[in-house]
Amino acid sequence: MEQTKVVKPETLNDLIKVLHQIFSSDTVNVEEVQNLMESYESKPQEWKAYAKFDKFSSIHDHTDSHCFMKMLQGQLKETLFEWPDNKMNGGMTKKSERILHENQCAYINDSIGLHRVENVSHTEPAVSLHLYSPPFDHCNTFDQSTGHRNTVKMTFWSKYGEKIQVETTVSKENN
Ligand code: NI
Repeated sequence: MEQTKVVKPETLNDLIKVLHQIFSSDTVNVEEVQNLMESYESKPQEWKAYAKFDKFSSIHDHTDSHCFMKMLQGQLKETLFEWPDNKMNGGMTKKSERILHENQCAYINDSIGLHRVENVSHTEPAVSLHLYSPPFDHCNTFDQSTGHRNTVKMTFWSKYGEKIQVETTVSKENN
């Protein structure tokens, strides 16, 4: 069997370059991507131009895509939930929760469940880098106490570090 060559990316640009190579094929090796993203040591000067801060957080799905979430700064709490039972009208079931630390890379998809990601610190900002494959333009958010879902459109807050003008009627979601 051919051994996968693991090269530690020295910069964020290196990481992006290798990710483009990996995602040029049709199959995704989750562990390979996760290990690669974890091996990049976050350097704020490489990503600070793209970091935008937002308070929003809700329980959401990932539209049948892979979701990788790399911690660039601070800590985030990830809470996993079961998919709500459509026949039942009740609160959502919490599966687990954990704290994600700097440089860690979390992974989720719809078969694992739903999650909410939040910064529990009131003083330390948290920054994370998300990779979704394939891309998606809608996802669902869920009400924790009823399990009711709401479809929301994904929007870009910024592209290449520049803020995008968004109509105020469009609801947006960070996932
Ligand atoms: Ni998410």
